[in-house]
Amino acid sequence: MLEVHDLHVAYGAVQALRGVSLEAGAGSITAVLGANGAGKTTLLRAISGLVRPRAGSVRLEGEELNGVPVEEVVRRGVGHVPEGRGIIQELSVEENLRLGGLWRSDRADRRRALVEVFELFPVLAERRRRPAASLSGGERQMLAIGRALVGRPRLLLLDEPSLGLAPLVTARIMALLRELTQRHRLAVVLVEQNARSALSIADVAVVLNLGQVAVADAAAVVAADSDLRHHYLGF
Ligand SMILES: Nc1ncnc2c1ncn2[C@@H]1O[C@H](COP(=O)(O)OP(=O)(O)OP(=O)(O)O)[C@@H](O)[C@H]1O
Ligand SMILES: [Mg+2]
Repeated sequence: MLEVHDLHVAYGAVQALRGVSLEAGAGSITAVLGANGAGKTTLLRAISGLVRPRAGSVRLEGEELNGVPVEEVVRRGVGHVPEGRGIIQELSVEENLRLGGLWRSDRADRRRALVEVFELFPVLAERRRRPAASLSGGERQMLAIGRALVGRPRLLLLDEPSLGLAPLVTARIMALLRELTQRHRLAVVLVEQNARSALSIADVAVVLNLGQVAVADAAAVVAADSDLRHHYLGF
């Protein structure tokens, strides 16, 4: 589904990504792990066209995304749940969700997708008329994921969905991600500081270090390698 090849991104003199390659297949979760500043957010931003890579390619089902405008990347099926979640506080829960599908012309399916998100996250259905600002951290994370899902992505990019959440809420969101990935045959790229949670649901793990891929292997292999865990993941 997704093929990233030899991606280089710089912010002025700062080389944030230095030749990153990875693949993510339909129905699978790729965890992207690594320390603060390793380049995880930059990788997601480069895939969705929010920053322009200096070199390299990003292909979605064989089609090049590098150089394609952000709105067209969304149209081609990339949903991005950004760091900090990017929901609009003043709008209601339902308005935020509707925004996620506004660009799609199939109105009937937009409605269906909204109903599906309410089934997936009943707490959002209960609070649909409330302003997003009134939600708890976990509910906001559900709203941010729900908004991406209303756009019916093929590739879902998630930047630290567990940030600031209680362990039980994190576990619930991780379990839902696993289920969604299978049900919709999504390709998921999951950026996480919480390596333990991410490895528990991921198929593949990619560890970034100073803008380069330090490790890429099956998630179970990475989780079982205590040296590697201590060295890069701090547990
Ligand atoms: N807008 C920017 N301008 C300049 N430098 C930036 C910018 N965004 C990120 N960087 C730098 O690029 C590098 C990678 O940052 P990035 O945000 O991708 O890391 P990260 O792995 O997501 O870190 P974290 O775990 O803290 O979220 C860091 O050195 C960071 O300081
Ligand atoms: Mg980040």
